[in-house]
Amino acid sequence: MTSLPADVSSAVAAAYDARAATYDESAMHRDLAAEVAAFCSLDAPRDVLDVATGTGLVLRALAASRPRPRGMTGVDLSPDMLAVARRELPGAAFVRADAAALPVADRSVDLVTCVTALQLMPRRDLVLAEWARVLRPTGRAVTATFTGFGRPARPRRDHPVEHDAVSTPARIAALAAPAGLRLRRHAAWRHADGDAFLLAELEVVSPEVAR
Ligand SMILES: C[S@@+](CC[C@H](N)C(=O)[O-])C[C@H]1O[C@@H](n2cnc3c(N)ncnc32)[C@H](O)[C@@H]1O
Repeated sequence: MTSLPADVSSAVAAAYDARAATYDESAMHRDLAAEVAAFCSLDAPRDVLDVATGTGLVLRALAASRPRPRGMTGVDLSPDMLAVARRELPGAAFVRADAAALPVADRSVDLVTCVTALQLMPRRDLVLAEWARVLRPTGRAVTATFTGFGRPARPRRDHPVEHDAVSTPARIAALAAPAGLRLRRHAAWRHADGDAFLLAELEVVSPEVAR
């Protein structure tokens, strides 16, 4: 498996380590996590993997929903974000890993979530291929991305932030297709602070395509 170049990985981790202590103060991120949990449609998501989990807000929202997932795992590059997640949701497993090289077995997950993070991942092709690999055939992946009209792309010196690449249903569908995933439904949601989001659910087209 291929993972991020070390400099990009380190820059992302450092940026979010610096935000970890105050990240949960963001009403937008807390409210979006609740919206994503409500959007997830599996009747009984048994095993959930939250990719780029940060402080675990999405898993915390899913843990508060019914039915409660059986197994919850979060992966992220930032040790300090993960430390908050472990403190806030001790029943879940939190692992430091790159989304492009998940330490998760094939076909072991019913629901993958990835919220406000795809724009930070330069190898989205590898990331989505990993979702296809770890999902069970009936599994789903749910993403939430900035639509861009609420928040323009912010170029950074140390790592790219590419909101435009994941800001429309057509772009999400085009990213998903080579991995053997298909856009099943999507919705728009706008937070009271003005930020606008695209929520998208992907399904496995053919497990063989992703092998
Ligand atoms: C804006 S935060 C979102 C956190 C969480 N999903 C939420 O909704 O609150 C973006 C997170 O993506 C993580 N991240 C970015 N690139 C990553 C990668 N390649 N692999 C794993 N985590 C990554 C960052 O460390 C950060 O915690």
